[in-house]
Amino acid sequence: MIPDDKKEEVRDAADIVDVVSDHVKLRRAGSNFSGLCPFHNEKTPSFSVSPSLGIYKCFGCGEGGDVFDFVMKMDGVGFEEAVRTLAERYHIVIPEKAETAYDPQQFLKDGIYHALRFAGNFFHQTLAESDEAETAREYLKNRGYPWKTVRKYGIGYAPDRFDGLLKAAESAGINLQYLHESGLVKAREDESGYFDTFRGRLMFPIFNPSGKVIAFGGRTLSKAASIPKYINSPQTLVYNKSEVLYGIHAAKNEIRKAAEVILVEGYTDVITMQQSGIGNVVSTSGTSLTAGQVRVMKRYGDVLLMIFDADTAGVKAAVRGISIALQEGMAVRVLTLPEGEDPDSFVREYGAEAFLEVRKKETVDFLRFLVTLARKEDRWDDPVERRKVINEILEAIAVVPDELSRANYIQELNSISRIGDRALIQELDVIRTRLERTRRRMDQRASQRAGREREDARRGYPGGPGAPPASGTARPDPGHPAGSNRESGPDAGEGRRPEAKPDPESRRGPGAKAAHGSNPGPGANPETASPPETHTGSAGRAGPQPPHQESRPHDPRGLDPRPHHPRGLDPRPHDSRPYDLRPHDPRAQAPFPDPDARSVRRPEDEKELIRLMLTFGERLIVFIGNHCGDVHFEDPELRAFYVDMMQQYQKGEPVSVEAYSRREHPYPGLVGDIVLQRHWVSELGMRKRGVTIHRDADPVNTARGALKSLKIRYLERKRNEFLDEYAQASDKEKKEVQQWIKKANEELRRHRTDSTEILFPDL
Ligand code: CTP
Ligand code: MN
Repeated sequence: MIPDDKKEEVRDAADIVDVVSDHVKLRRAGSNFSGLCPFHNEKTPSFSVSPSLGIYKCFGCGEGGDVFDFVMKMDGVGFEEAVRTLAERYHIVIPEKAETAYDPQQFLKDGIYHALRFAGNFFHQTLAESDEAETAREYLKNRGYPWKTVRKYGIGYAPDRFDGLLKAAESAGINLQYLHESGLVKAREDESGYFDTFRGRLMFPIFNPSGKVIAFGGRTLSKAASIPKYINSPQTLVYNKSEVLYGIHAAKNEIRKAAEVILVEGYTDVITMQQSGIGNVVSTSGTSLTAGQVRVMKRYGDVLLMIFDADTAGVKAAVRGISIALQEGMAVRVLTLPEGEDPDSFVREYGAEAFLEVRKKETVDFLRFLVTLARKEDRWDDPVERRKVINEILEAIAVVPDELSRANYIQELNSISRIGDRALIQELDVIRTRLERTRRRMDQRASQRAGREREDARRGYPGGPGAPPASGTARPDPGHPAGSNRESGPDAGEGRRPEAKPDPESRRGPGAKAAHGSNPGPGANPETASPPETHTGSAGRAGPQPPHQESRPHDPRGLDPRPHHPRGLDPRPHDSRPYDLRPHDPRAQAPFPDPDARSVRRPEDEKELIRLMLTFGERLIVFIGNHCGDVHFEDPELRAFYVDMMQQYQKGEPVSVEAYSRREHPYPGLVGDIVLQRHWVSELGMRKRGVTIHRDADPVNTARGALKSLKIRYLERKRNEFLDEYAQASDKEKKEVQQWIKKANEELRRHRTDSTEILFPDL
């Protein structure tokens, strides 16, 4: 038992915000902190931590308690172990363990941690003291690492002997089994004993987020090409490479502050950058980025800045990592350093200031990075190659889980490629349909496999996928020849093991599915669904039932004035050139605004229409849906919002402020922008002046005003577009374009002069 006063000492020392932050991205909310509950799936934060009370509470699932409860629950350990973990973390000495229930797995893990910590100290001490380490010390000094840094990162040196660590461990009474399980020693082939894994190497301990040593990377000091530059610990019970980021324990708070994580390639890049004051930096251990690693990053921040040197190997890794990070819902930016430089060399040579400057100037989002890459490879000027490139980029966009982000990326891709967002969205829908189909097939296969395994287990032999099937009884699996295992399946890439598990969707919770819902519609069979014909996917059909849909005349230029089908004002006809490579809207060439700098001034009329639909539900959804379509929305996020509302409505799902406040990012933020700001301010002001407002006394009329403004702005955009088209048209085309301009002007005049009741009648 741990004495009560010790428990209290640990409780006092432990910072609950710090402890929770290892698992939850917390934001300050008044005197408390809030974040997404780690114990249940949610999209909006209902998990709250009070540092003053030292407790946490989830208002969603009811889970709550003090810092010990949190660790128990999170690490799946008992009370005593939770206290000990925290005691260790906050450097409080607790008398040795009395007897506790014996858990062999935990026992083994503890032993491994112990061995690793011993080794870390041993290597570090060797570096500090032994004559043999003189070259290593010299090397570190020359690389610009003062002893302070060496100590902070626990850098050490492994003696160049087969029994350096082994002997030291033995005399310290370290159980050799643990040393072996931790990968620090290997068994001799003749089984006569063990020998050191790391010999004559500079040792970089790898820490988990709470600062425990879990592995090592050992760098040779030799320049001989025959010697591997790094040797890394093998996978162990406490070290799962695909979920580990080097530097995370030192970087996590900095990542949280910056809301951004910088990913570099090597241990030395991390150390050099962190010591120069750029703290939010981590690296993988020489592997390409995995989904598991991205999930670790995402606990602390959701913007990823990848840094690569200009060589091709780095770039290849980048492209792969980008897609994985996007899939996990991170925003991805890329910084390419000048040829021949890595972050370590760059910062050492020019300093942190210079780095920050280059970073400011050269950082691009992943989309621009991919386009620039294509340009470098001469793939952008050739129309055929360019189309391929654009498809590759669409493949990347297609995995982004959030619909509004996808809409933004499409908008940007359009502004770069000038292909037309309609064509792009159409193509995106095709890709997403295909992905969805693949996913379902994988799910199916996985559940079949699981079923078979269950069946096998029932028949009494171990049916694990890697287990050799008992002869005769095993059913052959065409996709998985006997002896193969899951990891070797066609969809399992290196380091992506977690993804090969059944149903990656369900892991992300029910909401994630909804984000995929835009195409094909629910219940639609993706095997048979044809690509949606408008760029809103199924929204056209999903919206309120249009009154006279079929009898409408074809309206190729999007100018049919009469109130009717929401899709009727489609400005880009589905015509013979879906991949028109000419710019169709030169104004759209403006570079996509830096997300940091982007002001969120959204058109008031668009916000107003969405507010009305959210507030009044069906009646206004039908009215507005019948008088406008998504094409009329200029703001890409609001447009996506509109489309989503129409789809929800069609599915019979609630469309309300409450429902969207509980949806995934960025809906809650948008709802705030739409519902709160302006009206609260103005209403309060009016009330102060003794004015009662009946703003929503006649919401349909309010909608009419907003619709009028919306349509006028839309028509103006169209007219400008036609004017530009006119300037570029051949003589033969000019005549036709002139007609469109005339028509647009007529429509504009009509919208400006007619009353809103005539323009937007009740249907
Ligand atoms: N790496 C590895 N095995 C190798 C080479 C590299 O595991 N044989 C991993 C290490 O994690 C290394 C990273 O890949 O940190 C980047 O490799 P590199 O740039 O070659 O190493 P640096 O750490 O930058 O080392 P240095 O700056 O000392 O050359
Ligand atoms: Mn390097």
